[in-house]
Amino acid sequence: MFKVFIPQKNLTLLAETGENLMDVLIAGGLPVASSCLGEGVCSKCAVEVTPAGEPGDRETKTLTRNNKSLDQRLCCQVFITQDLEVKTTYW
Ligand code: FES
Repeated sequence: MFKVFIPQKNLTLLAETGENLMDVLIAGGLPVASSCLGEGVCSKCAVEVTPAGEPGDRETKTLTRNNKSLDQRLCCQVFITQDLEVKTTYW
């Protein structure tokens, strides 16, 4: 079990190993923007994740194509394997 800490809400969510970050955030009651339903192509779900981990090629292409910072992660493409801290501008 890992912790996903949301400092803006002072909220800690719990996640199983390999659970999808977008699913955990939505289950925790946090709104996550999306127009591709987690397919990794719209980039609307981009958030700041610490530690950021390594985005895959597809994720990097999507972030670049949509002029997103490469410091962000697409939460629909993050599978949790450690404790994380997550921020976004709209929470
Ligand atoms: S929901 Fe579209 S890229 Fe994540």
